[in-house]
Amino acid sequence: MVPRFGRLSARLVGALAHYAGFAPARQGGAHAAVAALVLVFVLVLVLSGAPAAADDIAPLPPAPVVDADKARLGERLFHDHRLSGNGTVACASCHDLARAGIDGLARSVGIEGRLARRNAPTVFNALFLPTQFRDGRAATLEAQIDAPIADPNEMDTSWPDVLARLGADPTYRDAFARLYPDGLTVAAIRDAIATFERTLATPDAPFDRYLRGEAEAIGPEAKAGFALFRTLDCAACHDGPLLGGRRFARFLQDRPQPVDPGETWTPDRGRARLTGRAEDEHVFKVPSLRNVARTVPYFHDGLARTLAEVVRRMARHELGRDLAEDETRRLVAFLETLTGTWRGRPL
Ligand code: HEC
Ligand code: HEC
Repeated sequence: MVPRFGRLSARLVGALAHYAGFAPARQGGAHAAVAALVLVFVLVLVLSGAPAAADDIAPLPPAPVVDADKARLGERLFHDHRLSGNGTVACASCHDLARAGIDGLARSVGIEGRLARRNAPTVFNALFLPTQFRDGRAATLEAQIDAPIADPNEMDTSWPDVLARLGADPTYRDAFARLYPDGLTVAAIRDAIATFERTLATPDAPFDRYLRGEAEAIGPEAKAGFALFRTLDCAACHDGPLLGGRRFARFLQDRPQPVDPGETWTPDRGRARLTGRAEDEHVFKVPSLRNVARTVPYFHDGLARTLAEVVRRMARHELGRDLAEDETRRLVAFLETLTGTWRGRPL
């Protein structure tokens, strides 16, 4: 904490000096008074021991209690290939729950082998995200579902067609009639899938147990890695209980060479695709780091294959710092403690 805080006060004091230096002589009195006030504020902050961590890193919150029958129906829909135009692709095709909620591909493969625009993020803990998608373009889990259904490169269908296919199955008609006043509707399908997704929390990672006071839940390398994560300021972006998910940041990089022969890379404008604004070029949601050891490959284009590589890139491009070998090792050891459990088993 001390170095992070030291830096903050150094910045404030620097700003203060700058400000004082520019104060015109005839207004010196007023400026001196303001400067004195700011100085007092800084001193109070320093002496009060200051808030320990502005990054809010904390154990994963518990999943909400949901209607178990709707969640079961949602789980069936999540695995149902009839949600795609030609009956070959389910949500689970790209978000395999036995595989930490991803497909392991650089970019997902949808209907008829077409390539999705980006690397599939995990659906685990998506319930805790304030926005969905790598550019945050959907506000809720319910709203997110419309995109893969309609995307010609993913499920390539339409809601009327999905309703017709599911409506032909009496077991679905009965299940929806039992659980929803209007029976099988688009809103009910969205609600059932989102209800299931709200059960996909992964609590009890070794890191959570450590934060709750089990000192031996993570090893010394990981502890040193966590300290580095804060002192280097990774936590300025990867903050909160998810270690990410709440902010957007420009992804700065020297593009890695394509990993496989023949693999091509097209620049992804990130949020600028939505907003058209220059300041949003290559701006992406800072991803959650929960279960990150299980969700290789990395980044929106899936072109990074090891955590060591990712950590080195992050330090160099987001923080302007080249890591020593042992720093990289410690950060990776820390990231490996973020694997939680689902249905009683580690992901
Ligand atoms: C063809 C593969 C594919 C299919 C099928 C698919 N997804 Fe995705 N999913 C993706 C990709 C790729 C992204 C990231 C797209 C982006 O950010 O622009 C994504 C993003 C998401 C997210 C956002 C997570 C986050 O971290 O922001 C959720 C939630 C999600 N999908 C759930 C679903 C559900 C539910 C279905 C079924 C209705 C589904 N997906 C079908 C590939 C797929
Ligand atoms: C300025 C904000 C910022 C800082 C600081 C930062 N990151 Fe990131 N991080 C991001 C963004 C944005 C992405 C997503 C890039 C993308 O999807 O292409 C990311 C991605 C990652 C990923 C890959 C996650 C995945 O599933 O693809 C890891 C791991 C990671 N960061 C770790 C770190 C570590 C360790 C540090 C400190 C050395 C750090 N980050 C510092 C913004 C930041």
